[in-house]
Amino acid sequence: MSEEQGSSTRTAGLLREPRPKGPTGRPLTDFPVPAPLEGHGPARVIAMVNQKGGVGKTTSTINLAAALAEYGRKVLLVDFDPQGALSAGFGTNPHELDTTVYNVLMDRKTDIRDAIMDTGVENVDLLPANIDLSAAEVQLVNEVAREQVLDRALRKVADDYDVILIDCQPSLGLLTVNALTAAHGVIIPLTAEFFALRAVALLVETIEKVQDRLNPSLQIDGVLATMYDHRTLHSREVVGRLLEAFGDKVFETVIKRTIKFADANVAAEPITSYASNHPGAEAYRNLARELISRGGAP
Ligand SMILES: Nc1ncnc2c1ncn2[C@@H]1O[C@H](COP(=O)(O)OP(=O)(O)O)[C@@H](O)[C@H]1O
Ligand SMILES: [Mg+2]
Repeated sequence: MSEEQGSSTRTAGLLREPRPKGPTGRPLTDFPVPAPLEGHGPARVIAMVNQKGGVGKTTSTINLAAALAEYGRKVLLVDFDPQGALSAGFGTNPHELDTTVYNVLMDRKTDIRDAIMDTGVENVDLLPANIDLSAAEVQLVNEVAREQVLDRALRKVADDYDVILIDCQPSLGLLTVNALTAAHGVIIPLTAEFFALRAVALLVETIEKVQDRLNPSLQIDGVLATMYDHRTLHSREVVGRLLEAFGDKVFETVIKRTIKFADANVAAEPITSYASNHPGAEAYRNLARELISRGGAP
């Protein structure tokens, strides 16, 4: 959508009463198409965190990045899960890589720029991971300032990017604490299911500990409901609970459940290019605009 179309829809929205409500019960905002940036960097660092697996962290990392990139933002993705799903999501075979985030963390002689790869998506680069990273959790324990190792590594390239997204592993261990220490903000992807709510209290506790001890300016940028099924009362009730707990921190943008994300993953492409007009692609563009308009990204 062009800026012009965007603003005419917004004007129409003012005349129309009441504005349509979204899944979170709030009137849907028409987030503006962001203005192009004049230069790049320094990057805002965002950790995508939830210690539960299968909640849409990796899918949201890939597609939010691709949507931000469409708006001209330069994005670095950090695969911080030894499973390497983010790296595989761009068609790399992580197990064949010689230099990954593991080497950057553990060997001070490895230059982060030698590990960063092209993803084939314009404006999106990748710092990949593979199973080697699982050793880092144990090896880092003996490092000096073990919680700040990722932060130190990312600082070298922060001026080259507008946004750095860290796709965390499903745990609250030392790697995730490193991500939270390096980050300005946290996005918590969460499936719209009751059992998924339980994990969040523990996650918020961890975020608060990191704020207390390591990174006082760390913010929760937002809670993102994924795999939402508007036909079920269950999904709607979960989003209601999220709003009670997190208020405006819950993104207005909600990601619906659709098989297209799995299809795009098999094709090793973001949904924004695999099925550019699909509502799933639009949803992540909306999330990118919402994040930018909240100040969560430049
Ligand atoms: N909105 C969605 N609708 C349907 N399936 C989804 C959606 N988002 C993610 N998935 C699928 O759910 C699975 C887990 O998602 P993933 O992003 O890998 O979660 P995590 O990184 O939190 O483990 C993947 O198979 C993915 O394709
Ligand atoms: Mg993942």
